[in-house]
Amino acid sequence: MSKTLIIGAAGQIGTELVLELRNRKGTEAVIAGDLKESCPEALRGGPYVQMDALKREEVRNYIIENGVKEVYLLAALLSATAEKNPAFAWELNMEGLFTILDLAKEGHVEKIFWPSSIAVFGPTTPQINTPQLTIMEPTTVYGISKQTGERWCEYYYNNYGVDVRSIRYPGLISYTSLPGGGTTDYAVDIFYQAKLGNEFSCFLKEDTALPMMYMEDAIRATIELMEAPKEKIDIRSSYNLSGCSFTPKEIAGEITKHIPDFKISYAPDFRQSIADTWPGSIDDSQARNQWGWKERFNLEMLVKTMLENVNVDLLKTISS
Ligand code: NAD
Ligand code: SER
Repeated sequence: MSKTLIIGAAGQIGTELVLELRNRKGTEAVIAGDLKESCPEALRGGPYVQMDALKREEVRNYIIENGVKEVYLLAALLSATAEKNPAFAWELNMEGLFTILDLAKEGHVEKIFWPSSIAVFGPTTPQINTPQLTIMEPTTVYGISKQTGERWCEYYYNNYGVDVRSIRYPGLISYTSLPGGGTTDYAVDIFYQAKLGNEFSCFLKEDTALPMMYMEDAIRATIELMEAPKEKIDIRSSYNLSGCSFTPKEIAGEITKHIPDFKISYAPDFRQSIADTWPGSIDDSQARNQWGWKERFNLEMLVKTMLENVNVDLLKTISS
């Protein structure tokens, strides 16, 4: 049986991606791998392996010995956490990628998914309807690592025929696990505070528009891209992808329609200077035209779904 491995499976994207891939390919065919010693509750129904993406030989041996043919490499430090430890962020965000690209170059792995981010853009990028091809001068270590990763993915495709596919995810909004240290995390945290009846202190200014996406759309996009015929994939760096864009004031306004007493205040911190360099909205016409991408969730649906499903007990797992 050909196997699929998700590295960084216990995070915000991985916990949902693994379950959807298991639905499609069969539970035993999809292995969740993560640095964490114990498998998250949601993934316990299938194979789990503790692995460190930075241990090149161990990752290589595992993939070759277990017949893994498809890899989703999700392990990374996100934008805010990466700024606190730039050297380690660079190491983690780059080294694991080379391990997997080389395995594909040697013919062990047949297909790779590696996520990029809106963080590849910078202060000199046009911020409204940011095009696929444009000025890219990221100022964060996270953005630099994603931009560099994109260049290497395209290089391995052009020079070695490696079938690597990628999306520049916007900020992702979900309720099954907590986000991992990004600049867009406020748009998840806000729902927990709203459900707890607390005032929410937002670390971005009220008018900071950022591209966002509900997780169900992101997982569907990832699988649609991975299943698209090769001839439909013209971009081997990473695709722009758009869901819905909003500001803290706009999401708070939408929450107030459900919880009229909800209050938000603003205390911008270092993440404001990261957000200021990112686009407010994204032009994703290549993804739409080439492999048929279309989002389903707008801000209204996203807020309603999050408020219906957020479980504040998840906050107790933060320190565990
Ligand atoms: P996350 O922080 O929630 O999860 C990352 C997972 O990787 C964690 O479970 C962590 O334990 C694991 N990990 C860390 N170091 C590891 C190592 N050395 N070996 C194995 N596993 C390790 O991140 P996420 O939000 O799920 O993001 C996944 C990917 O998608 C990242 O590359 C991220 O840059 C990208 N992305 C995410 C978003 C978003 O909004 N969530 C947006 C754009 C891009
Ligand atoms: N959500 C991510 C972050 O804020 C974007 O890549 O870091």
